[in-house]
Amino acid sequence: MMPSLDPRPSDRLYDKVRHAIPAIEWPAFADDIDAIMDLKRARNAVILAHNYQTPEIFHCVADIVGDSLALAREATQVEADVIVVAGVHFMAETAKLLNPSKTVLIPDRDAGCSLADSITPADVRLLRQRYPGVPVVTYVNTSAAVKAESDICCTSGNAKAVIESLGVDRVIMLPDEYLARNIAAETSVRIITWTGHCEVHELFTAAEVRQLREDHPGVVVLAHPESPPDVLAEADFAGSTAAMSAYVASKRPPRLVLLTECSMSDNVAVQYPDLDFIRPCNLCPHMKRITLANIHRALQTLQPQVSIDDTVAARARLAVERMLAVR
Ligand code: 13P
Ligand code: SF4
Repeated sequence: MMPSLDPRPSDRLYDKVRHAIPAIEWPAFADDIDAIMDLKRARNAVILAHNYQTPEIFHCVADIVGDSLALAREATQVEADVIVVAGVHFMAETAKLLNPSKTVLIPDRDAGCSLADSITPADVRLLRQRYPGVPVVTYVNTSAAVKAESDICCTSGNAKAVIESLGVDRVIMLPDEYLARNIAAETSVRIITWTGHCEVHELFTAAEVRQLREDHPGVVVLAHPESPPDVLAEADFAGSTAAMSAYVASKRPPRLVLLTECSMSDNVAVQYPDLDFIRPCNLCPHMKRITLANIHRALQTLQPQVSIDDTVAARARLAVERMLAVR
């Protein structure tokens, strides 16, 4: 049979990611990329991808990319019938909360999160008993059932604004201890914390940052607020993954390190090949469960779908919508 001369969508994409994906690996991705493009059209589907997805997902098949806040905001605007979340389970639940009548797919149901696993709805109810009348602010990195027990959600991109929007002098902030302590350093609102940690960001240390500066003179260090406070104290800038990208776009530091999940640097470096990215990083095993192959399968089978109990969803949606109303 003669080979087809029709250009494949993947043909024009390799140029974009050539600095991140070795040419020898590309053929392993191209078939899935072409099939995903076709299925997106056939299913009237969009793919929402978090900044920690690998470059072949982030740059080649995603329609909307961003941090947790951007993905939640964008989820309110989606007109497609099917939403595939290339991210972790709580992100897919948030998309479903905001799109109850659409089909929301998570390509691997086991893509979890150490923060979401650190707290249960019963824990939140106990905290409310212990601190009566104190509002509960819940990080989006939680299950819908935990969100349902909360007054309002936040992300690392809007935590300070959310807390200060409540007009109170004390809040309970769950479940990320380090995010809560880092925000407490920026606000006069007193914060009661929980002991959840991100298994990726808790691994960075202040000593590592000092060593980086010694080994790479002039390096600009960007940290994520899920890291311990002493790491942020050694960094030049701290912010959500979207805030890190915005910092790179505006300041263009010639030599930099993004102290976060490994794919973040790969994805940002695709846009700024002239910058020298130093790359100590930690992989998130949950984010890495999402692959082109399981996105392809999810679009083919329309499984696994995210579903949330109606009563839980109604209460959790309120907490997310209250967050989205804070500017
Ligand atoms: P942001 O992208 O909102 O900064 O969150 C980071 C993260 O760890 C998401 O799981
Ligand atoms: Fe959860 Fe951390 Fe992985 Fe994000 S990077 S999904 S917070 S474990």
